[in-house]
Amino acid sequence: MEKYKLYTVLFFCGVSLFVLLSSHSYRSFELRTSDLYAHTDTVNNVGWIAPASADSIINPIPVTKESVSKGEELYSMYCFSCHGDTGYGDGPAGGSMGVRPANFHDQRVIKQKDGALFWKLTNGKGNMPPFKEALTEEQRWQLIVFLRELGKSE
Ligand code: HEC
Repeated sequence: MEKYKLYTVLFFCGVSLFVLLSSHSYRSFELRTSDLYAHTDTVNNVGWIAPASADSIINPIPVTKESVSKGEELYSMYCFSCHGDTGYGDGPAGGSMGVRPANFHDQRVIKQKDGALFWKLTNGKGNMPPFKEALTEEQRWQLIVFLRELGKSE
């Protein structure tokens, strides 16, 4: 009889351990999805925030005359209609949108890491299209290089 009692106790210990472990992994899963959707966090108008992990994506493209002009060329094809000729977020197609296209002269954008901007350009959000499929990685980096120059200009 004592033996069965022991088995019952052991059984319940096993069940609780299982519940504990699975609830733990559930919680870490939740953390990962919230990381994935961190860009939807617009509380207090802090704007669009890339996941912290994006900050460590390193720009492999050096800032040269060539990469800047490649970026400029791409910008005039894919971005200016919303972000404007000079990057103030005032392009002809940007006016009717709920969330205005970003102004690349804004300190909020300038202060972000290249990796964060690259991540946003890649994944998009709302009216900002994702450029993951449309542009190669190299082209997306050339654009980031150009956005930096644009931010420095008047
Ligand atoms: C159809 C309009 C549209 C086009 C085209 C477009 N964007 Fe955007 N972009 C937006 C909007 C709107 C936002 C703001 C999204 C938000 O904050 O919810 C944005 C935001 C961004 C941001 C994030 C800035 C920040 O931190 O808030 C970057 C970077 C960006 N765009 C780069 C580009 C580049 C580079 C191109 C061209 C390859 C481009 N966009 C083309 C509409 C556009």
